Amino acid sequence: MMDAVRARIRDVPDFPQKGIVFKDITPALSDPAIFREVIDAFIARWKGERIHKIVGIESRGFLFAAPLAYALGAGLTVARKPGKLPWQTIREVYALEYGENALELHVDAVGPGERVLVVDDVLATGGTADAVGRLVARQGAELVSFSFLVELSFLHGARRLGPERVHSLITY
Ligand code: PRP
Ligand code: MG
Repeated sequence: MMDAVRARIRDVPDFPQKGIVFKDITPALSDPAIFREVIDAFIARWKGERIHKIVGIESRGFLFAAPLAYALGAGLTVARKPGKLPWQTIREVYALEYGENALELHVDAVGPGERVLVVDDVLATGGTADAVGRLVARQGAELVSFSFLVELSFLHGARRLGPERVHSLITY
């Protein structure tokens, strides 16, 4: 069923560095029927699951987190790269498939008693999502699951995050 979506995800060799095969999701966004199919698939998975808040991961996670939050009637919040959030923040550092980075969350973004879903475009090593999971846990919220458009299973990100709390629409 996700075959048409899969067909619109493009491999770009040696981006952003030599040896990395980049999964370019932009063609799946620019085709209206395919974009709708992607968002509808996220909705179908999470509808009725009692999600209070969705955390979108900067930047490509925002593209899926926002329409999903809207459709589910959940709140939307953002995990952002350092220095972007104006209010008080907490920060977690992580190693990426290429390089190192950190993500921040507003201290009042999520809290105790809230059931939270973390959304991103791609699960690779899991470093990014794991950092966001730590941010959510530090604020005392309940992390329901991580949800991705694409999972690169050969990088074993699910193992790192805990396979029982990883959902992905397309696996390579
Ligand atoms: C990419 C991708 C995921 C992350 C996955 O983001 O969008 O967020 O890497 O990698 P990991 O599982 O090994 O941590 P990137 O940091 O390139 O930033 P962007 O979304 O702003 O393009
Ligand atoms: Mg990203």
